[in-house]
Amino acid sequence: MRKKIVAANWKMNLNLTEGAELVNEIFKGLPPLSEDRRVVIAPPYLHLTQTAAQLTGMIDVCLGAQNCYSEASGAYTGEISAAMLKSAEVDYVIIGHSERREYFKEDDATLAKKVNQALINELQVIFCCGEPLEIRDANTQNAYVEAQIKAGIFHLSELQLKNVVIAYEPIWAIGTGRTATSEQAQDMHAHIRSVIAAQYGAAVADDMPILYGGSCKPSNAAELFACADVDGGLIGGASLKAAEFLGIINAMVEA
Ligand code: 13P
Repeated sequence: MRKKIVAANWKMNLNLTEGAELVNEIFKGLPPLSEDRRVVIAPPYLHLTQTAAQLTGMIDVCLGAQNCYSEASGAYTGEISAAMLKSAEVDYVIIGHSERREYFKEDDATLAKKVNQALINELQVIFCCGEPLEIRDANTQNAYVEAQIKAGIFHLSELQLKNVVIAYEPIWAIGTGRTATSEQAQDMHAHIRSVIAAQYGAAVADDMPILYGGSCKPSNAAELFACADVDGGLIGGASLKAAEFLGIINAMVEA
């Protein structure tokens, strides 16, 4: 049975004190999570060891990183390797977020290398895809997202793919307050699952969690998570406030 996951992407927000407080607030309100439900918290790199210590002993709340470098080690000033993340008790790493693709010019080849580094180091990958507004307006989003997925993860074996979660984040919905409708999300998620099924078979596709991201909040999470192919969310702004994030977690628990 595939897992439902709600993942917090704090992006470049919160200092160490604020981060610790937010995690404590989330713990206070966290509902019991069954084995097929999971929460991931992806703070900035600087927070990771602190957050890892706070998460000690929790099996259903996992630690995520927002990025890793595409090479194993060496003279790459300012970068963080997947092996370092593993040593900091990180479980998941977000790769291919649209903000990385746009502001840091991360291309398909670089992202495929990052995916490899993550998997070599036994991290789970949250691989992001999603189209800009002009592609949505031209109604060519299915081909666009399919190409991102093929370039990023189709070099993986079936076994490796078990450690990959896909997050569909339409760029026009990120931080804009304009959420995809549940129908738009379901259509794309079903398309993504069919793309995976065509390459790896239906059983593998059925097992893969596909998360939605883009202005997800407590008021729309239940409707989104009720879609057959939406297995949770990757949450930006609403993950920075405990009450909002808990509202989204509760929607996942009840979905
Ligand atoms: P928002 O939830 O702020 O729209 O951000 C979504 C996102 O980019 C998560 O990775």
